[in-house]
Amino acid sequence: MPATHRTETRDTDPSALRAIAETLARDAGQLVRDHSGAHDMRPEFADKSSATDLVTEFDRLAEDHIVSELARLRPGDGILAEEGATSASTTGTTWVIDPIDGTTNFVYGLPTWSTSVAAVVDGITIAGAVYAPALGEMYSAASGSGAQLNGHLIGQTTSPRPLDTAIVATGFTYRRELRVAQAALVGLLLGAVGDIRRLGSAALDLCMVAAGRVDAYVEEHLNPWDVAAGLLIATEAGAQVSDFSGGPANPSQLLVSAPQLHAGLLEVLAQRDLSTR
Ligand code: IPD
Ligand code: CA
Ligand code: CA
Repeated sequence: MPATHRTETRDTDPSALRAIAETLARDAGQLVRDHSGAHDMRPEFADKSSATDLVTEFDRLAEDHIVSELARLRPGDGILAEEGATSASTTGTTWVIDPIDGTTNFVYGLPTWSTSVAAVVDGITIAGAVYAPALGEMYSAASGSGAQLNGHLIGQTTSPRPLDTAIVATGFTYRRELRVAQAALVGLLLGAVGDIRRLGSAALDLCMVAAGRVDAYVEEHLNPWDVAAGLLIATEAGAQVSDFSGGPANPSQLLVSAPQLHAGLLEVLAQRDLSTR
């Protein structure tokens, strides 16, 4: 994240920042949906880190919209965005942005893609929004105020859930050499849980845990923009988050689950063969 040199202060009320994140995510997501809907064909795409890591003109359109709105609404706030926008913060607040999370789904016309916007104040995410235009779903959270789906509070229940019936979402990096180890991890999980889902948007995977639509989510090798908003949404909904050893969650290693399942999932993850990593 760009270095912060605080020279001015600005409103850091989590609810106010959530409202901004929602507006930015909704407007950018709708811009993408409306403009891409004007083309009847699959959007043109280019490769990024590998032949399967795609970027379209719409990723850039969404990012440009969010960045220019932030320059107008919050001059001095920092930016960290997937398609390259970056600026240092002079206020202590930095916006972490994935303009389209799930670009492959977007290119193929699958509905699970989202725009993710998070406000990070002094290194802590305090507000975020994940908007999925093709699902008509806005997930958001403000620190201490809970998580919402389309304006209604969502949360994890505490009722017991057996691990061997749990539905666990996961995802895979674009780096083929790391996917072999990720496949082994899925093998371990399949032996212990009910079933696996691969939705194709890390931000939405986290929101699905928040909404109780999957019981857990496990992924490695992500970036801050994939998870900044979604992690706050999951946490505010009452999900438990950690790395694979029970330490602090981070984009390179993430276990997010219903609290009753966390210890059992950590035991499963502890069995992975470290020699393949
Ligand atoms: C990807 C998605 C996917 C995850 C990948 C991410 P992108 O983001 O979140 O679910 O498995 O690791 O890179 O490239 O569509 O923004
Ligand atoms: Ca992403
Ligand atoms: Ca992206």
